Order: sequence, then structure tokens, then C-alpha cells
Amino acid sequence: MGQPKSNNNQNSLKNVAIIMDGNGRWAKNNKLKITKGHEKGVGVVKDIVEECVTQNINTLTIYAFSSENWSRPKSEIDGIKTLIIKAISDQVPELIDQRVKLNFFGDIENFGSKIINKIDKAHKDTFLSNPSLELNVALGYGGRNDIINTSKILVKKVQDREIKIKDINEDIFSQHSLVPIDNIDLVIRTGGDRRLSNFLLFQIAYAEIMFIEKLWPDFTKEDFISAILTKVITTYTIRKLIIFIGAFKYDTRIFPNGSF
Ligand code: IPE
Ligand code: IPE
Ligand code: MG
Repeated sequence: MGQPKSNNNQNSLKNVAIIMDGNGRWAKNNKLKITKGHEKGVGVVKDIVEECVTQNINTLTIYAFSSENWSRPKSEIDGIKTLIIKAISDQVPELIDQRVKLNFFGDIENFGSKIINKIDKAHKDTFLSNPSLELNVALGYGGRNDIINTSKILVKKVQDREIKIKDINEDIFSQHSLVPIDNIDLVIRTGGDRRLSNFLLFQIAYAEIMFIEKLWPDFTKEDFISAILTKVITTYTIRKLIIFIGAFKYDTRIFPNGSF
């Protein structure tokens, strides 16, 4: 069984996920090697984490490397691995200062012992029972694989008579998924493409999805604030509209039949 995961409230913006796309195009536009694009992208993560803490966001879940990204050239993958190690070394002290808890999820085994050890230590060093923000990093993650693996775990538990088929529900499924958060309120994808690329399929069932043209290395705190404000205003407006329509619906002086 996994740890209890953060709660969701569909009327508030507490759990944000980001598909950080566009590093390659940014590097190309600036006549730089792709690794430089990824490096610039890591710096943006630092800014957005700071802003999440300021904005009282509970969880930020970021797509750092997908299961499909293993098909990229070895030189690019090696560059990303080196960056992961450097990013953890550089950023963990600041994460501790900001009370940010760092979690990694995905097929991390494939990244090798150096990264696994680094991740384990970072997880321990940032472990807090009441953090200001949980930063969840998807590494070697694929949503379809996660659903299939979770199904296998549950089937095995049924076979071993640990649970009954009738007990399987959304909560049980979420608890056995690799993803450390049950429900995402807002997904942001930078880079202009309008797809999910196999990210968090089960957890985004009710998420608002925003596609932003800017490439990830150009994304700023201001862009992030504007995205979360748009989501909050949309939610607020819809809620107000429902209350407004409800008031009309039940105001029998205006609509004697209770309808409009
Ligand atoms: C996303 O940027 C980062 C990773 C997938 C690791 P890309 O490298 O996909 O950038 P574009 O989409 O080619 O511009
Ligand atoms: C999504 O970007 C994955 C990450 C940001 C880690 P990709 O660039 O890999 O996605 P596709 O290939 O455009 O769908
Ligand atoms: Mg891309």
C-alpha cells in the first residue's frame, strides 16, 4: 500500500502538474546544443518551485523524462542524467530551506545506481511530515504503464486473497499507483503542442488543461501566476454562475415553474 496521498478539492487550486516541453526548440533557436536547453529548463523549475511555495500550492508534479524519452539519442540521455545529478546537488539545500519535500516516481531503476542513490538521499534529506510544498518529479514515467502495473499489483492481491474484487475502487487504485498524488487540478503544457504525451492519465480525470505557446526555458514566474489566475478565475466564475443560475431557478417570483 502506498502512503496516503494529498487530498483534492475541485474548487481550489492546490495540485498543479507541468509538462515542461520545448527545451530542444529553445536550444535550436539559440544555436546551442540540446543539453543547454535542458540546463536552462532546470533553472526554470527552480523559479516555479519558489513561486508555488509563495502561492501556497500543495503539490507540483513535473514531467522530467517520459518512458518514451528513452528512444532519444544516447548523448542527450547522458546529458540529462548528468543534469539530474547536478540539479539535485545544487537545489536540495534550497529545497530544505523552503520546506519542500522531494519525491521521484517512475521506472527509476533504469537510470542506474548513481541516480538511484542520489534520489534516495534527496528524498531522505527533504523528508517532512508537513512540508510547504511537495515536488513530485516524474522520471522514466508513462501513464499507460502505470495503469497496467497498478492493475497487475491489484490482480496479484486478489489472487493472494489480500483483497476482494469488490473492494477495488478509485481510492485503492490510486494508493497502488506510482503517482504520489491522486487528483490534479491544473495541467500546464508549454511548447505549444496540445497533447498529454502519456502523463498522469488516471490523476487528471477532472484537471483543467492549459496549453501555453512559450517554450519551457522561456517560461517565467509571471507566466505561471497568469496560468493559475486563469484557472482560479474560471473556477470562481463557474461557481458564481451556478449560484446565480440556482438563484434564478428557485426564485419563484421570476420563474413560477422553477425553470427557465
Ligand atoms: C522537453 O523538451 C524535455 C524532455 C523531454 C526531457 P524537448 O526536448 O522535448 O523539447 P522540444 O519539444 O524538442 O522542443
Ligand atoms: C513530453 O515531452 C515529456 C516531457 C516533457 C518529459 P516530449 O517532447 O517527450 O513529448 P512528445 O514526444 O512531443 O509527445
Ligand atoms: Mg518535446
